Amino acid sequence: MDLTQFLQQLDELTASAVGTFKAALDQDALEAARIDFLGAKKGQLKAVQKHFGAVAKEDRPVAGQRFNETKQAIEAALENAQQRLQSGGGAEAQGDPQFDPTLPGQPFQLGHLHPITQTIEELKDIMGRLGFSVADGPEIEDVWHNFEALNIPAAHPARDPLDNFYLGVAAAGDADRRNELLLRSQTSTVQIRVMENCEPPVRIISLGRVYRPDTADATHYPMFHQMEGLLVDYQVTMADLQSVLRLFATSYLGEDVHIRFRPSFFPFTEPSVEVDYHWNDQWVEFGGAGMVDPNVLKAVGYDPAKVNGFAFGLGVERLCMRRHGITDIREFYKNDIRFLHQF
Ligand code: PHE
Repeated sequence: MDLTQFLQQLDELTASAVGTFKAALDQDALEAARIDFLGAKKGQLKAVQKHFGAVAKEDRPVAGQRFNETKQAIEAALENAQQRLQSGGGAEAQGDPQFDPTLPGQPFQLGHLHPITQTIEELKDIMGRLGFSVADGPEIEDVWHNFEALNIPAAHPARDPLDNFYLGVAAAGDADRRNELLLRSQTSTVQIRVMENCEPPVRIISLGRVYRPDTADATHYPMFHQMEGLLVDYQVTMADLQSVLRLFATSYLGEDVHIRFRPSFFPFTEPSVEVDYHWNDQWVEFGGAGMVDPNVLKAVGYDPAKVNGFAFGLGVERLCMRRHGITDIREFYKNDIRFLHQF
């Protein structure tokens, strides 16, 4: 036997003894393990010691020193195990004396959809049941779809550069600047895109982001979401609009919600109303609506003498805030997990 083999036997023995002592669940098991490893006659350590004589003479000082260290290590492990059993501990798990297997586990934190995304899904669901399908449009929009076709002429204050995020890109030869680009300020743009591409009847909603350079406060944010609705058909009336908005409101906010329509003005609807819901003893504006202005129908090539319709645009954040009693719109966009986890 050479030195390397002898030392290897010592290492293996240490590992085996330490593992067995740690796993011992009671005094009897520990005592049996003690006799197995440290027994004076038939113990495993004794068996290894018998090979000492076979180690070359010049290697014996090293072998002897390592043998003594091994014996001390095994005895220390035995001592530890004895103390552990005396203080009432069972087997040591993974070598950590602090480990308490009776503690409850740590739950995994599962992610989920953002509250606004959840709201959007639910709104699509409700409006789907009322027969509205979902349409989509770009967030970078041109002046034609954001203003011009919606009966908002060049001199209209809604087109003010201070109230919009113009991107400063105008196509060459675009004298009336219809192709100038901006971040859309309303989802009414999608009304135009849908009507340009299909014949009546039309019954769509469109949900998405809109952008306005507002200073952020509890009820304003420079980016928010709208739900646009558009219905064009034969002999549509204001009563149809009101009943759809009422049905929608009771489905999303509950049977007891109070809804109010106030006369208002939008360039693309005539007559126009503002839609208010009752919230915390107050009337709060949730959006606008009205009968589609004949000029808009003309702009997309529809014949206002044959078809008419209604349109509405509601703030998605406000709906979600009203539903959950959230008082500050900025909470949605802080990405504070403590807030988001509640939904
Ligand atoms: N686009 C309007 C807004 O953003 C809302 C609206 C939509 C009003 C459709 C009437 C009809 O305020």
